[in-house]
Amino acid sequence: MIVPRNTSPVKGSTVLWIAAGFLLLVFGGLLIAELTPLLFPPQASAQAQQVDDLFKFMLAVGAAIFLLVQGVLVVAVVRFRARRGDRSDGAPMHGNTTLEVVWTLIPAVIVLVITIYSFQVWVNTTAARADEQTVRATGARFVWSFAYNDPVNNITINSKELHTYVGQPVRMEMSTDDSQHAFWIPAMRIKQDLLPGRTTEVRFTPTRAGSYPIVCAELCGSGHGQMRATIVVHPDEATYLSWFDDAVNTALNPPADPVERGRALLAAGVYPCSGCHVLDDLGWQGITGPSLNGVGDRAGRRVPGETAEEYLDRSIYFPGEYLVPGFGNLMPQFQPNDPNAPNYMPPDDHFAIVAYLCTLTASGESACDLDNLERIVSEYR
Ligand code: CUA
Repeated sequence: MIVPRNTSPVKGSTVLWIAAGFLLLVFGGLLIAELTPLLFPPQASAQAQQVDDLFKFMLAVGAAIFLLVQGVLVVAVVRFRARRGDRSDGAPMHGNTTLEVVWTLIPAVIVLVITIYSFQVWVNTTAARADEQTVRATGARFVWSFAYNDPVNNITINSKELHTYVGQPVRMEMSTDDSQHAFWIPAMRIKQDLLPGRTTEVRFTPTRAGSYPIVCAELCGSGHGQMRATIVVHPDEATYLSWFDDAVNTALNPPADPVERGRALLAAGVYPCSGCHVLDDLGWQGITGPSLNGVGDRAGRRVPGETAEEYLDRSIYFPGEYLVPGFGNLMPQFQPNDPNAPNYMPPDDHFAIVAYLCTLTASGESACDLDNLERIVSEYR
């Protein structure tokens, strides 16, 4: 009997095998997609749920394809391996239009579905909200700082931590004056680059109280790995406002003592010094700049002919002039006069910060003549 080519009946057992394999792929894909997110940080924002659902969908599809490819590979290796002594060629085969149509159409449909689904998630998670709160974030090598407007007193509140509360939609308005950074809050499932010369934004609505890490996700220099901060999500508006009112109070009533005022300015993260310097008094652990512990004792000895207050003054407004051995010229040059300049540091702040640095001595006594410092700083005013 002659059996014509390509018309051999498909056996019932083959259909069963294919069905079983298909079920295995679907089940395996779903299992991988369900188990993997157990490794994730908590879902702390309204965006997190949508992003994770999209991720799970893509992971399920990807895992099923992975299992299919690897499964076929294993079957082929086992079933069609060359038997001992078999030196013959395999059967000649050329082309299979049905197969090619199928393996083009299925991925095309999958990609189309993922495109539509992700676009929906993108639109949902980035949509502006009428009641949103705007917080400005600055990324600087290698520290984050956050600024809030206080419209009542017409002042800016600076903070090293990002504060908000459950249910409050937040819009981050972000800028950088040095290199590129990326603002990433893993628990909120949001990430956005900061680009020099541009303002970028990202939105999220916290749904879970607690403190979560903020991470820089763009290689920005040698201190990149240390460029982290914390977001504090207060449980409700009242607790958030009590933090905000405290911060407003502190800003409105700066300590009269310039040393205390300088310390408070640095502690609040108004300037990005903590990203690079070690300073035990404020808990700084930067590594890319010289240590500030005991800098008052060293300041008068660094440059011949310069007093401690002259040295500290010039180290901030003209950091490239003298470099501590072993460190490069990486520090931003702070500007005394132009409020719109990046790295603007008004002379009054400058005076207070230098006055504070002067007290970082073994004895705790100031190493500086503050009258002389006042004379120096008055020239910038
Ligand atoms: Cu900033 Cu990495």
